Amino acid sequence: MTDSTILEVQDLKTYFFTRRGAVKAVDGIDFSLKKGECLCLVGESGCGKSVTVLSLLRLVAAPGRIVSGQVHYNNVDLVHCSEEKLRGIRGGDIAMIFQDAQSAFNPVLTIGDQIAEQMTIHGSIDRQAVKNKGIELLKEMNIPEPDRVWDSFPHQLSGGMKQRAMIAMSLSCDPKILIADEPTTAVDVTIKAQILDILHTLKEKRGMSLIFVTHDLGIVADIGDRAQVIYGGKSIEMASVSEIINNPGHPYTKGLIACLPDSSTDSERLASIPGTAPNPIDLPEGCPFHPRCAQVMDICRHVVPKQTIISETHTVNCHLFG
Ligand SMILES: Nc1ncnc2c1ncn2[C@@H]1O[C@H](COP(=O)(O)OP(=O)(O)OP(=O)(O)O)[C@@H](O)[C@H]1O
Ligand SMILES: [Mg+2]
Repeated sequence: MTDSTILEVQDLKTYFFTRRGAVKAVDGIDFSLKKGECLCLVGESGCGKSVTVLSLLRLVAAPGRIVSGQVHYNNVDLVHCSEEKLRGIRGGDIAMIFQDAQSAFNPVLTIGDQIAEQMTIHGSIDRQAVKNKGIELLKEMNIPEPDRVWDSFPHQLSGGMKQRAMIAMSLSCDPKILIADEPTTAVDVTIKAQILDILHTLKEKRGMSLIFVTHDLGIVADIGDRAQVIYGGKSIEMASVSEIINNPGHPYTKGLIACLPDSSTDSERLASIPGTAPNPIDLPEGCPFHPRCAQVMDICRHVVPKQTIISETHTVNCHLFG
């Protein structure tokens, strides 16, 4: 772990043990997060993004189980530390916001009660100080009439407002790392832009590190410093965002970039990657992308590619580079 690294994930695997067999949702994820950066986890639906971030805080419910790996934070391995230790870190040093703010709030408590509760779990006790700080946070989220919102119930707020209140709640303990799992999927374009803007400002102002989960490369280009591309539950390419977009190495990443709308002509490119994403209950042997890869070689069908260093800021797991 280098000085600037705040979180390091090694060989993380999380499987769901179902009657039909083991669903290998996460099957070998490695990445490191640097202080003050925004790292995007990107990949198509079902590739294991959410299960990865839930695993970081051991929030995967049965029949899911972390079967291997380590998550280092501050000399603590979050996979193996005590539940008590982890409880102090969850919602404290490491906070998470989810795709669906609606279900993350308790419908029978006011927004203020819920933010206050979150703050008191992790230490603050003075009620007035808690409320003042909470209202400040709502203001920081560009929420109009923060006093009224503090006393509102979740159903009294619009979706975008709830999502911003959710971010305020997650920030109430001054986290060092904020994990955001597709926080803009359920909101409209204007709110999406506002939320991305807020997260970007927070990162810059607080020096907070951000793990941003998305399937949208447009968002990655907008907010990310580095990106980790995931396919079939595995890390397949990691680089600075500009390298991922301008010089992708893995054939899958190349395919994703080819599917981006072309901003120079303002038209949708027609390219799409032929074939379908792998079924995590029956992952192909070797490289998970080999059945869809136009450059497939014999070795790809049998051997999982190891990580190859292309440059100081770029690694790829592909036999073309091995
Ligand atoms: N409780 C569960 N039981 C069995 N399989 C599960 C469970 N939860 C998730 N999975 C499977 O694990 C795989 C990874 O799911 P995950 O939610 O991490 O995908 P994702 O990349 O976040 O997708 P999306 O972009 O749609 O949110 C999927 O195939 C999913 O069906
Ligand atoms: Mg998800």
